[in-house]
Amino acid sequence: MMEKTFLMLKPDAVQRGFVGEIISTFEKKGFKLAGMKFIQVDRALAEEHYAEHKGKGFFEPTVEYIMSSPVVAMVWQGKNVVALARELMGATNPANANPGSIRGRYGMDISRNVIHGSDSVTSAEREISLYFKPEELVEYTKAGDEWLSE
Ligand code: CDP
Ligand code: MG
Repeated sequence: MMEKTFLMLKPDAVQRGFVGEIISTFEKKGFKLAGMKFIQVDRALAEEHYAEHKGKGFFEPTVEYIMSSPVVAMVWQGKNVVALARELMGATNPANANPGSIRGRYGMDISRNVIHGSDSVTSAEREISLYFKPEELVEYTKAGDEWLSE
């Protein structure tokens, strides 16, 4: 089974109109989309998503923030996709993110950092199961796969 990660285009990405461009970044790299939905996150899901940060000062504002607009929830698959997606995203604080990265290109402030991505394979499994039922993920052959690796 190919490695999978959970990515979310956060409210600022949706509201500022970067959905297509960011999806394009992952498509062009060669990763394969396995699941996608456009949803309004409710409080229970938002708190579960950020459960590891409960008790920190930014927990409540971050929960409020991802409930503030619809988001695009996605599962992408490919070789080393968890770590490589984090590289493509850039540092948590866009102010410190490589300017070529997604957060570096589109963001200004840590509280509006455009995209979420799982930080480990274990987190990815947990986050995917929060947002997707197993039958909502698809396995398929993609034209072009044979041009990505031998
Ligand atoms: O998203 P990432 O895994 O890179 O960072 P995190 O440390 O797991 O924090 C989760 C999210 O909380 C960040 O993406 C920010 O949106 C927010 N955050 C914040 O607003 N202020 C902080 N000092 C740290 C995190
Ligand atoms: Mg994190």
